[in-house]
Amino acid sequence: MDWGMKNRLSRIIKPKDKRTVMLAVDHGYFMGPTSGLENIKTMVDPLLRYADTLMLTRGALRNYIDPEQQIPIVLRVSGGTSIINEDHLLHEGTVVSVEDAIRLNVSGVAFSILVGQPFERDTILGMTEYIDTCERYGIPVLAVTAVGRGLGKDVKYLSLASRMAAELGAHIVKTYYCDGFEKVVETCPVPIVIAGGKKQPEKDALQMAFDAIQAGAIGVDMGRNIFQSSSPVGMMKAVNAIVHKRYTVKEAYDLFESDHIKN
Ligand code: 5RP
Repeated sequence: MDWGMKNRLSRIIKPKDKRTVMLAVDHGYFMGPTSGLENIKTMVDPLLRYADTLMLTRGALRNYIDPEQQIPIVLRVSGGTSIINEDHLLHEGTVVSVEDAIRLNVSGVAFSILVGQPFERDTILGMTEYIDTCERYGIPVLAVTAVGRGLGKDVKYLSLASRMAAELGAHIVKTYYCDGFEKVVETCPVPIVIAGGKKQPEKDALQMAFDAIQAGAIGVDMGRNIFQSSSPVGMMKAVNAIVHKRYTVKEAYDLFESDHIKN
């Protein structure tokens, strides 16, 4: 692995504890102005100091984020479907060239695969082609193991999708937490972060983050459970405390509550 790849990875996965808190606000590429992301700038500006990296689209980066921001960027580079086209949801391909990713000075890119759907091959080959290009420039690829309709977020499926992504060359895998998550981690040879998934009560989301870390995840790439929270800053702080400060769920929830009360 060359210096550049190692350097970019170290901007995403913090050297001090090999963990990461990724704030995901890339949802607009297929969900449009989803609740909480009506204006990404006003939402993320108060959160960035508590996140290690920001995952978003090139349009969001260019239009909502100050170029003097120092937070490392993981750029969403796959897409091509919308939430209203149910038959082909997440049948994604490349939507950002690696040249544009380099121009945007990103630390990594994110590409979704959809194992188990009829079009799985398209998404998998799309990701591997992108990985090959990124290898030439020393840019790490975060594989997003999307879960299509009718497929379960269970240990068998998530172990399959995560291991496939890693074997095909992804440098980091983003998947979902599930019962028996230890097996997903143990059978995946690259670091794993968990997505938060749909909004749930803050305490439940914090428990999920805690359990995922205990099971071996290196962190989270969380979006809706932060920007749709009743106190996004409080939730960002609480998640950061679980990932980096080894807070218990109670300690983290108290931190969330204290911030919630303050605001
Ligand atoms: C959407 C994504 C999101 O980055 C990922 O799902 C994390 O966001 P959330 O915590 O809201 O699930 O890839 O396609």
